[in-house]
Amino acid sequence: MSSIRAQIEAVRQAMADRPRGLLRHVERVVREALLLARSWDLDPDRVELAAWGHDLFRAHPPEEQLRLARGLGLALEPDDERAPIVLHGPIAAAVLRERYGVGDADVLEAIASHTLGLERMSLLAKVILIADKVEAAKRRRDWPMRLIREAAHRDLDLALLCWADWKWVEERTHGWEHHAQHWRARRAWVAEHHLDRASPPRVSDAELEEFAAGFLTGSE
Ligand SMILES: [Fe+2]
Ligand SMILES: [Fe+2]
Repeated sequence: MSSIRAQIEAVRQAMADRPRGLLRHVERVVREALLLARSWDLDPDRVELAAWGHDLFRAHPPEEQLRLARGLGLALEPDDERAPIVLHGPIAAAVLRERYGVGDADVLEAIASHTLGLERMSLLAKVILIADKVEAAKRRRDWPMRLIREAAHRDLDLALLCWADWKWVEERTHGWEHHAQHWRARRAWVAEHHLDRASPPRVSDAELEEFAAGFLTGSE
């Protein structure tokens, strides 16, 4: 068995001890992530390893997550202490690196960033974040996830931005705080999206004005 298949098997076995509902969620994320891997020409084994590992510590209680994060030497920010559940990704990444011998930097980044996002993400990390949000149960619960899933097979960055918008509205609707790391990521995604849409210019402002003037007077 290749070492990555052995790593997947080890993480699958560890997941088997987790609560049944969480295990079913992870199985759905694996399925969703492999569909996206096909669309984006990613190595299915690397995607599967990240998907199996992403929620390995999701069911641990908040105080246990804080203890684990401190024990692993993770850098904590105030928002992590306020809502330690967001630490489950970074904890899983650190444990997979230290105890499961996972050295694939993109896999570890994907696991660490799947809850909040990062300013710049690898293709694999984008796939894992979106797969986690659009798996079948979440599509049933929140209908926009169906559209975000469709978008993700055409344009992953657009899907991320749509998800961040949806998340923002949810947070405002329910009065939930947003995490500083997610906000940094969101700001970067929005800026990148605007740059992408605005440049390079196909026609100069002067040319546009000239065309508009002719168009308005009917004498192009
Ligand atoms: Fe998670
Ligand atoms: Fe998840």
